[in-house]
Amino acid sequence: MYKHLKKILLSGFLFIATLVHAGDGMWLPQLLAQLNEKEMKSMGMKISAADIYNINKGSLKDAIVSFGGFCTGEIISSKGLILTNHHCGFSSIQNHSTIDHNYIRDGFWSRNEAEEMPNKGLFVTFIVRIEDVSKAVLSGVTSSMSEKERQSTIDKNIAAVQKNTKQEDYQKNFVRAFFNGNQYFLFVTETYNDIRLVGAPPSSIGNFGKDTDNWIWPRHTGDFSMFRIYAGKDNKPADYSPDNVPYTPKKYLSISLDGVAKNDFTMVFGFPGRTNEYLYSEAVRQIVEINDPVRIQIRDKALAVIDAFMRKDEKIKIQYASKFAGISNAWKKWQGEVLGLTKTKAVAKKQAYEAEFQKRVDNNPTWKKAYGSLLNELAAAYEQFGPVSRSRDVFLEVYSKIELFAIVAQINNLIKAEGQQNFDATLEKVKEKLQDIYKDYNAEVDEKLFATLMEFYYEDQKDQGLPKELTDFVTSKDQNFAAIAAHIYKTTTLDQEDVTLNALNDDPNGFLEKFKNDNLFDLYKALINNYVANIAPTYNTADDRIQELQRTYMKAQMEVFKEKKFYPDANSTMRVTYGKVNGYEPKDAVWYEISTHLSGVMEKYKPGDYEFDVPEKLRELYKNKDYGPYGENGKMPVCFIGTNHTTGGNSGSPALDAYGNLIGLNFDRAWEGTMSDINYDPSICRNIMVDIRYVLFLVDKFAGATRLIDEMKLVHPKKH
Ligand code: ARG
Ligand code: ASP
Repeated sequence: MYKHLKKILLSGFLFIATLVHAGDGMWLPQLLAQLNEKEMKSMGMKISAADIYNINKGSLKDAIVSFGGFCTGEIISSKGLILTNHHCGFSSIQNHSTIDHNYIRDGFWSRNEAEEMPNKGLFVTFIVRIEDVSKAVLSGVTSSMSEKERQSTIDKNIAAVQKNTKQEDYQKNFVRAFFNGNQYFLFVTETYNDIRLVGAPPSSIGNFGKDTDNWIWPRHTGDFSMFRIYAGKDNKPADYSPDNVPYTPKKYLSISLDGVAKNDFTMVFGFPGRTNEYLYSEAVRQIVEINDPVRIQIRDKALAVIDAFMRKDEKIKIQYASKFAGISNAWKKWQGEVLGLTKTKAVAKKQAYEAEFQKRVDNNPTWKKAYGSLLNELAAAYEQFGPVSRSRDVFLEVYSKIELFAIVAQINNLIKAEGQQNFDATLEKVKEKLQDIYKDYNAEVDEKLFATLMEFYYEDQKDQGLPKELTDFVTSKDQNFAAIAAHIYKTTTLDQEDVTLNALNDDPNGFLEKFKNDNLFDLYKALINNYVANIAPTYNTADDRIQELQRTYMKAQMEVFKEKKFYPDANSTMRVTYGKVNGYEPKDAVWYEISTHLSGVMEKYKPGDYEFDVPEKLRELYKNKDYGPYGENGKMPVCFIGTNHTTGGNSGSPALDAYGNLIGLNFDRAWEGTMSDINYDPSICRNIMVDIRYVLFLVDKFAGATRLIDEMKLVHPKKH
């Protein structure tokens, strides 16, 4: 290992490259004044950090919400109108869709507030304030504690912090770890639960280019949808009620009609989910060579099965659209990630960085004592981690794609609740969950998934030790997985919604008694038990060890590389990232421009195609160049790119100009740079945004929803 390091150390230029990251970083809004304001202003920002985050008066942060916990949204009117992505609102759009009212295909536009549609389970969360509570949370924690002791002290401290936090009775709070547990922040929040669907374009606009174009620049997708927050009459959070009223926000975003130019300052404000920028080199190597490839391989198979059915059957297409998009989204991202990490030599860069780290540590007696063997320990820990994390990935990827297992898991919950006080409540919950699953379930698709994926699982894992129930069963059927699946799906009735739900209504206990002797249940238990007994514990031990070492390594990096400005990895908390509108060179001799236009939509147009069809109305607007005030020099801008450092969860985040006006809606990253979660590289990492003028054009000219335009505040910052 170290021989290797020395060689790389000689090529010191690699190390320098990691220090001159410009544009990377997901910063905490309350620390901008201290850490970033100066740089942001030097890059062109015209407002101050206090305009972005201020707890004493309305600031930009009050216009940004976590949308359902998985995306970001922003408020764009005084009546609580929210803008987010089409793919963020998709499950709501899908839930309201039927063959007769196909809002996925045709879009949906409410004509008045009464037509705005409620969405059970959907919520948005505001951040009221953020506080550093590291001292209180880490009080009493010592380095001699075991991980378990440490965690229990921290849990106790967190509970005390949460309890002592001053807040209104309708507010909540949570504490989250940063820098791998070296710092802790408290977030006081307000959550609204009555969120209604206001409008969405047809998928042929909102998801134009679908999976072929996903993660790709140049892009031509109008990836937006609109919702509205409803509140009680006192403007406070309230459960859904027809009496609720549109929410009056503390702050909403003004919208710029002036567009973007190369090198314009931009910032993106939202809730990025997860990044891993400070990993040890071997972790990155494993992602590139082990984890990503096997997950891609399994998803190749799952996608091929689902795709074949979706192309044949309109009902299956609606039922599986969301699942397909979800599976394919990460599948494609991992492929870009592997390419990008390989191309930018991420592992070698990390190794050079580690060599420099080791050199500095070795030259400082205090550090040497504390961190001298850290890298060796990380190497040893990853050696343990590699194989078991692969087995875990294989199990979880396969298990989670076969929905019959999800159905059995629900029945199993009920079996576990038998004889308990909460049985009736569990029964109700299980019935609800099952209805959710069955709504978009097709037994034929699932059977084929079972045959294909279980065969992979069996072949791949048979040398790792598989449960006897599985091997016996497979051998008894001559390892013919189509026959195995056929047998299982023919003998079980669990793939039939009415049979299962009737049984659960009429005689739940009788049904459970019978199910306990079912072959399917035996197989399910064998698979789960194998995972719980043989994979999870080894994985958890290895993972705990890595967490512990990574916490120390993070702390050490911050001490040893004092000249570097560190930002915490994304953890679904509110962040600001900033950069510039700029193109990039994806490969030799090719330059990608900053923006796309409606003419490009027409270049991609394939009549009747599943991914590239264009609605007639849009073609007509294009033909007549009927762009209203939203076009620019006779062209209609569609998307643009910038150097903002974003990740999953940033979808729906506003892109703001130097004054804090809305100029775009973040929804994706460019293929060459999806490795930004692990190794941000300013030369090729770009986020993709819908130009806000395209959104306005679609709402106004395409949908005719002028009542919504009337609510918004449109401005001309560049014309002053
Ligand atoms: N890649 C983007 C993100 O990770 C957009 C996904 C939605 N679009 C799609 N075609 N599946 O969420
Ligand atoms: N499309 C992602 C999202 O849904 C954003 C990204 O990964 O760049 O959050």
